[in-house]
Amino acid sequence: MINELIEKRFSPYSFSDKEIAKEDLLKLFDAARKSPSSYNEQPWRFIVGTKLNKETYNKIYDTLMEANKEWANQASVLILTITANEFSKNGNKNNHSEYDLGQAVAYLTLQAMELDIYLHQMAGFSREKAKENFNIPNDFTPITVIALGYKNEDDKKPEKGRRNIEELVYEESFGKNK
Ligand SMILES: Cc1cc2nc3c(=O)[nH]c(=O)nc-3n(C[C@H](O)[C@H](O)[C@H](O)COP(=O)(O)O)c2cc1C
Repeated sequence: MINELIEKRFSPYSFSDKEIAKEDLLKLFDAARKSPSSYNEQPWRFIVGTKLNKETYNKIYDTLMEANKEWANQASVLILTITANEFSKNGNKNNHSEYDLGQAVAYLTLQAMELDIYLHQMAGFSREKAKENFNIPNDFTPITVIALGYKNEDDKKPEKGRRNIEELVYEESFGKNK
């Protein structure tokens, strides 16, 4: 049996109207802040739009591709995730900044599950539009949009295929198990 928060997580396509309290939203970003990162650079940045702050919410929503627009407007919060392309201390390329952002979002996700808040991450959005809408400088890259909220009661976790451990984890050489 693995961690129950991991077991219950899935990416819903429908959300309830219930707003997320500001203090709970802050807990999610605090969890992300505690994530490890290469050279402790903490390259992730988040732009947060809530239905109480429609202007930012709409500007994030505007970047989504049509298929995601169809359902993502139910979420009470939309988050644009961004990462730094370079290390702040020397300007060298940070080859692990997307990895670090992903891990920070994993931390945020588990903290959210603890509070019964569900995420649906999306690659289907326009990076160019996001850069334009939020004046994102060229040394930062928008990576995903996250729809976040309480899920609908009747939205149940669907059965989704997962690769077998043997396909993902090798003991001898790449692709090879004993
Ligand atoms: C980086 C990333 C990008 C994704 N992009 C989209 C997307 O644009 N639209 C969508 O409906 N789902 C998107 N997903 C959700 C995945 O399809 C989903 O996580 C996967 O099918 C596994 O399902 P589960 O999260 O419910 O376990 C994305 C997930 C990740 C992590």
